[in-house]
Amino acid sequence: APGERPASYIKSAGQGAGQHTRQHTFLRRFKWNEPGCELNTLPISPFSCTAPLKQEAALDNGATVLNHSMHLVHRMENLLTLGNSSDVSLRVQTMNTDEVKVIQAHSLVLTLQSDVFEELLLSRNNSALVLIETPECAAVFDKFVRYLYCGDISLRLDQAISLHKLASKYRVWGLQQGLTQYMTQHLSSDSPTGHVVSWYNYALQIGDATLRDSCLQYLSWNLSSVLQSGEWGSISEDLLLSLLQRSDLILQSELELYEALESWINQNQPVSSTIETALRAVRYGMIPPQHLFRLQRHSPLMVKYYEAIRDLLYLAFQFHSASPIQLAKYFDVNCSIFTPRNYLSSSWGSPWIINNPTRDDRSFSFQTQLGPSGHDSSKRVTWNALFSPRWLPLSARSTYTELGAMQPTRTEGGRPRIIVTPATSSPDFAGVSFQKTVIVMAKQQGKVIVRHVYNFHQSTEEAGDFLVDADLQRRASEYLIDSSLYLHVVIKPLYHSLLVARK
Ligand SMILES: *[C@@H]1O[C@H](CO)[C@@H](O)[C@H](O)[C@H]1NC(C)=O
Ligand SMILES: *[C@@H]1O[C@H](CO)[C@@H](O)[C@H](O)[C@H]1NC(C)=O
Ligand SMILES: *[C@@H]1O[C@H](CO)[C@@H](O)[C@H](O)[C@H]1NC(C)=O
Ligand SMILES: *[C@@H]1O[C@H](CO)[C@@H](O)[C@H](O)[C@H]1NC(C)=O
Ligand SMILES: *[C@@H]1O[C@H](CO)[C@@H](O)[C@H](O)[C@H]1NC(C)=O
Repeated sequence: APGERPASYIKSAGQGAGQHTRQHTFLRRFKWNEPGCELNTLPISPFSCTAPLKQEAALDNGATVLNHSMHLVHRMENLLTLGNSSDVSLRVQTMNTDEVKVIQAHSLVLTLQSDVFEELLLSRNNSALVLIETPECAAVFDKFVRYLYCGDISLRLDQAISLHKLASKYRVWGLQQGLTQYMTQHLSSDSPTGHVVSWYNYALQIGDATLRDSCLQYLSWNLSSVLQSGEWGSISEDLLLSLLQRSDLILQSELELYEALESWINQNQPVSSTIETALRAVRYGMIPPQHLFRLQRHSPLMVKYYEAIRDLLYLAFQFHSASPIQLAKYFDVNCSIFTPRNYLSSSWGSPWIINNPTRDDRSFSFQTQLGPSGHDSSKRVTWNALFSPRWLPLSARSTYTELGAMQPTRTEGGRPRIIVTPATSSPDFAGVSFQKTVIVMAKQQGKVIVRHVYNFHQSTEEAGDFLVDADLQRRASEYLIDSSLYLHVVIKPLYHSLLVARK
């Protein structure tokens, strides 16, 4: 009868008035047929296999679920591979070739999963449906159809885009979402030629801002690896320029970026206006003067485009020749060449590995160069960092006292915190604000990746969300690598008088 859903008979364990009536009907039918009662007229299980009964302890009414869903999936798969009772043949034609792949399918299943198929099936003239696909999509089409029948899919990194295209074209939203999630979770996976750049380009093309930003963030936070990979040469001009703008890039040094830019330009030979734009995005103030001398002499790119960046180099050498504060007294400067990125080299900061981080407070000292200016290159600053696994904000503590309760013990509540302070003060610090950045690694798909970057002035308390979702108490926390927390602390001197536009 219309409106009736035969499948709900199987779910006899459910509750509700409707279910009750149905169970009731069964019983009556059972009685009526008593002597020659034939079990197979009862809708117990559509399968003859002997799957183990699954006892659901929490189930109401003491009912038991017979779960044959895996078997059903298997049947569906067979239906597709054998093509029994097929009422439509999909002729998947590879674009611009005469290659055709034929799949015996079932309009009911296709219609169930995709309204695009529904429309195509309604408007077809005969039992064949011709679908024209790109070679990449045609290559994964049978995987795609199998998903429509079975609801699961196995894929490799290089198949994600083609499958995503098919899921979008035929409006199979669940698959499309699953693939987007797969991509954001597999950015760090190994692939011989790299995949993140092509995923980024695809995200840009389809306007998926979330995927695009995930790719961009991954590339920015893992730039040293990317610069050394074969993928680097293949990045588009737009992607190159948008990476060069960012201050959150994590890499060894600005010199590393310049050298990678030079090799990208050699490989891609863009027009000279692009080369000039790219060269002007390098932060020359962050490259020590001895390296700038060498580049001026030995980098063919710099020799050729010297005029386009002459003003920036001049500014960089002025910056290196005296204290940045002196420079700021005399010149109005408004550009990014004095803003550090997240450099991993030892003059800027230090790695910090904290074993069993929840155990107790930990402190750590390290040294950095006072600043990137050549004038400061021989001056060192010692920093003390203190990590507290369960630090309580002041507001939380005062509540306890007002209530007259006991001081909270160290184990209850509290959040991780890091504070970084200089070991001694110095007149050199005048006019400089030291921005601290803590880079937090985590394990994803067995790989160590950068998971978070926190910026603060003195305490991670300022960031508000420092390690909030890390759950360090849990042994299996993805933030723990061999039960340790892997951090890298970077100290970035900011000369506000140089950076802030002056009237
Ligand atoms: C049936 O079994 C499958 C896998 O064997 C499982 O994923 C599914 O949740 C089960 N369904 C029920 C209702 O227990
Ligand atoms: C499906 O078709 C194959 C061969 O075309 C046949 O051997 C098999 O018995 C059929 N299965 C069912 C369930 O009808
Ligand atoms: C079906 O046939 C009509 C008329 O013969 C034709 O105009 C139409 O394009 C055909 N549709 C398809 C999907 O082949
Ligand atoms: C960087 O990417 C490589 C693969 O390209 C991966 O193995 C590594 O874990 C990534 N590292 C970080 C810090 O994201
Ligand atoms: C400083 O530079 C920014 C970005 O390049 C620009 O938007 C701003 O107008 C500049 N300010 C002055 C005072 O030159």
